[in-house]
Amino acid sequence: MHLLAIVGSPRKNQKTDTLVDKAIEGFKSLNEDNTVKKIYLSDHNINYCKDCLVCWKEIKAEPYAKCVIRDDMDWIYEEIVKADRLIFGTPVHMGYATGMVMTFLERICWTFGRPEKNYLDVKGCPAPRKMVDRKAIIIAVSGMIPPRYKRFVTGRHLRLKEQSTIRSMRKLLENVCR
Ligand SMILES: Cc1cc2nc3c(=O)[nH]c(=O)nc-3n(C[C@H](O)[C@H](O)[C@H](O)COP(=O)(O)O)c2cc1C
Repeated sequence: MHLLAIVGSPRKNQKTDTLVDKAIEGFKSLNEDNTVKKIYLSDHNINYCKDCLVCWKEIKAEPYAKCVIRDDMDWIYEEIVKADRLIFGTPVHMGYATGMVMTFLERICWTFGRPEKNYLDVKGCPAPRKMVDRKAIIIAVSGMIPPRYKRFVTGRHLRLKEQSTIRSMRKLLENVCR
């Protein structure tokens, strides 16, 4: 099984990156043949979607529609196609995924989806262009902790708490990969 891990933090070796690494460890520990590719969005040239809608209008394309922009998404699209499992890691910035994650998601919205799904009476929502059993997990890391939850993440048992977070990450991946 092949995993593609996408890190959307501008910082390497910090919280998001560390949790993604722990999840990768969990994935690798399941089967020695498992392979992983990790991509830091911040290392690559990923331009903004231009809203030209060329991909949106391309109904028949599979597994993804071609984007008019030539940049690092050209090979990242191919990496997504190769993946059986996906991890998206992002810090919370102003209540959302980081700008670079949103830019990335805008570029895959209509390339990997076509406007054919109806959701809550809304027509034209993204439907997968190709039905593939490609499970994904999202790791979202925030900085602000409501006071009532502070005792779970700080204090004298911090080390134990870190270890239990790492165990949870591994468990999460084990469940996704079954
Ligand atoms: C521009 C900016 C906006 C942020 N906005 C939020 C926010 O809305 N809510 C929150 O809980 N943390 C917010 N944070 C804190 C980050 O989510 C937090 O520091 C996170 O752990 C960073 O992840 P990293 O260590 O992988 O870079 C923000 C940080 C930055 C730089």
